[in-house]
Amino acid sequence: MLITIPNVLGAEEVAQIRAKLDAAEWVSGKVTAGYQAQRVKTNEQILEGSPLHTELGEAVLKALARTPMFMSAALPLRVFPPMFNRYAGGGKFGTHVDTAIRSVVPSGQRIRSDVSATLFLSSPEEYEGGELIVEDTYGEHSVKLPAGHMVLYPATSLHRVEPVTRGARVSSFFWIQSMIRSDGDRTMLYDLDRSIQQLAVEVPESPIGVKLTGVYHNLLRRWADL
Ligand code: NI
Repeated sequence: MLITIPNVLGAEEVAQIRAKLDAAEWVSGKVTAGYQAQRVKTNEQILEGSPLHTELGEAVLKALARTPMFMSAALPLRVFPPMFNRYAGGGKFGTHVDTAIRSVVPSGQRIRSDVSATLFLSSPEEYEGGELIVEDTYGEHSVKLPAGHMVLYPATSLHRVEPVTRGARVSSFFWIQSMIRSDGDRTMLYDLDRSIQQLAVEVPESPIGVKLTGVYHNLLRRWADL
């Protein structure tokens, strides 16, 4: 499932984060890439574990915690501390799949990447190119969102970022270990949750809604890894 979550950050929050990032020191993005990805990745990142990374990562985590659509779609068990990258001057990230298991700096805690996330921090007018292209069995999907909006997609997908030929594309990116490892199972739970929410609006206090809520929780109980 590829899903867009609007307004994870408000315009003022985006502006505050961008002011800090635009004044920050950036390092080569190759530092966090595996062997295959290093050869196709030409972008810059904020150093993992630096004070700015920690501060801004926590701001993103706080925003995720107040976003019900993120909770419902990702069913997060652990979230990798959000990182920040910038593509400019032809910078790109060729086709790759994200590393399956990552260690958090400095705790060393390991996180399995089930869901990949990109939170856009530049508005589409600020740059040319830079589309996130995600491949699935239905073909390729091109994603370029307003600042403050986020895309979630299965970490199992091949994906790339097209070259940025004008301006700069700044974003936050991270991974989620979900309580539900399978994308197919997670998608069904998300669809069920959304249907229950919709039913609650259209037919308030419906006994069917109570039954479906029971089914939702019982599936979650059956499938969740904690
Ligand atoms: Ni990637």
